[in-house]
Amino acid sequence: MENIRYEKQGAVGVLTICRPKVLNALNKATLEELDSVLEEIENTPELSCVLLTGDGEKAFVAGADIAEMMELDEAGAYEFSAYGSGVFRRLESLDIPVIALVNGYALGGGCELVLSCDIVLASSNAVFALPETTLGVICGFGGTQRLAKRVGEGNAKRLIFTGDRIGADEALRIQLCDAVYAPESLWEAGMALAKRIGKNPKYAVINAKKAIDTDKNTLEKEGFQAESRFFSQCFRAGKANGHLRVFLERKK
Ligand code: CAA
Repeated sequence: MENIRYEKQGAVGVLTICRPKVLNALNKATLEELDSVLEEIENTPELSCVLLTGDGEKAFVAGADIAEMMELDEAGAYEFSAYGSGVFRRLESLDIPVIALVNGYALGGGCELVLSCDIVLASSNAVFALPETTLGVICGFGGTQRLAKRVGEGNAKRLIFTGDRIGADEALRIQLCDAVYAPESLWEAGMALAKRIGKNPKYAVINAKKAIDTDKNTLEKEGFQAESRFFSQCFRAGKANGHLRVFLERKK
């Protein structure tokens, strides 16, 4: 695998998104690798918890890959969004808990990845945003469906309509993350939490997660499909593509 590092540390699966040159942005190939690692995790009964983070000190994940998105037409955009959304739902549906360690930028698809995890620990330098609207698109990996459940509808709409970035303290205040640590302590805190969870009988933790997530698991697919549809409509007649190009050409 080129874009994901995956290793087992005892009963903890450690998954690192690893495209540092583009701040771990998610292209289709990375989503495919993530999907296959999730399959491996599903088939590894000795695991009790997963830690998910981004490579390097600057970013968790800076979103979906804008260069790849810029080339999409409406049909391709629907396919990209539906595929990513499906992978994130697979992550969310793992029976064991997933802890996000947000070690920097968690923007767009990166923030949506965070929202698909059970517990979110952030470093004090974490930055969260759903900047899609500033790029002429909308969330495509479940953000419109999940954000309000975590932070309430008003906060969700404020963040999605403005695209504004917030720091770790504000994220903690609105419960977009669950705890904040100094950058050098984040990893240790995540591993300690994973091990603490792993001390409990696994079936009990799994049943607890299933019970808490009953609503999520019975959610109609409709919301996610609608999001992919509205995401792809942004690409009609090349509307979004022009805005995405502005980001990529900003340094010229
Ligand atoms: N896609 C592709 N490339 C990206 C990227 C992304 N999402 N984010 C960063 N990069 C690339 C940059 O283009 C740059 O590449 P070059 O060195 O070749 O120019 C490299 O990563 C480093 O980034 P910057 O030079 O921009 O670093 P910075 O410190 O000045 O800024 C940043 C960091 C604020 C995260 C800025 O890179 C940024 O705003 N990135 C885009 C974030 C974003 O808008 N994400 C949402 C994407 S849309 C989405 O996710 C849709 C969806 O839900 C499906």
